[in-house]
Amino acid sequence: MKAVIPAAGFGTRFLPATKAQPKEMLPVYDKPTIQYVIEEAVASGIDDILIVTGRNKRSIEDHFDKSFELEQTLQSAGKDDRLKQVREITDLADICYVRQKEQKGLGDAIYCAKKHIGGEAFAVLLGDSITKGPTPCTKQLIDVYEKYGASAISLEEVPKEKVERYGIIKGREVEKDIYKIEKLVEKPLSHQAPSNLAIMGRYVLTPDIFDKIDETEPGVGGEIQLTDALQKLDSIYGVTFEGKTYDIGNRLEWLKTSIEFAMDDDDSKDDLIEYMREIIIENE
Ligand code: G1P
Repeated sequence: MKAVIPAAGFGTRFLPATKAQPKEMLPVYDKPTIQYVIEEAVASGIDDILIVTGRNKRSIEDHFDKSFELEQTLQSAGKDDRLKQVREITDLADICYVRQKEQKGLGDAIYCAKKHIGGEAFAVLLGDSITKGPTPCTKQLIDVYEKYGASAISLEEVPKEKVERYGIIKGREVEKDIYKIEKLVEKPLSHQAPSNLAIMGRYVLTPDIFDKIDETEPGVGGEIQLTDALQKLDSIYGVTFEGKTYDIGNRLEWLKTSIEFAMDDDDSKDDLIEYMREIIIENE
């Protein structure tokens, strides 16, 4: 299976940090966000990845490209661990790029992948969100796609006051944590939301989605919404996957994620706890 990572948005929620650098390159603890996303795809068995980029996104290509000068410098300095790390990034997967010429929405960004994908089912991983769980989120969706032979998307319950930020679904639970979706609404007003189950940025889609996107008129924000195209599919399932999604496009969530990931690192954990204790006391 191939994967598509849309990474063409302006990152307006995170200005000025994203004025000249893509939000997908913002580091979360010690790695750029998009590296976690690619590692999730690879851990799900995918090694052919298409990133949909836009203007100002060249640093994404540089990050996954070979850096002869850097490698040479690390080698001469005998910094073998660092050299290994840098080489691993380049060897992660086969990565191709296509540019979305105009920012016409997530649906349009996915449509840019049509030629590369061909007639097979494919995964979509939004480049500004990271997931963590016992099994990679995309792998959980691939399993549901294989079981039901239909598109599958990740879901998470969100508080009612946050439904306006997401695509929200209405569905019938067919087995534990798996919903047959009846309706999808992009960014509904909270009193019009059909539930509090939100689309969380991971999808496994059947290739007929391209025709459906083609038939989709601009929706919320005047953009071609992927959610509106998903509504046109004959059959689609939602999975409240085991794990958690981190939204990096939002500054507070980004900061919390960095702290959480630093706590997973034994080299940083104790110092960080000590530092946070001091800050809490200072601010009490
Ligand atoms: C996109 C999707 C939305 C989904 C969200 C998850 O919105 O359109 O359905 O819930 O990602 O992060 P965006 O955040 O790009 O506005």
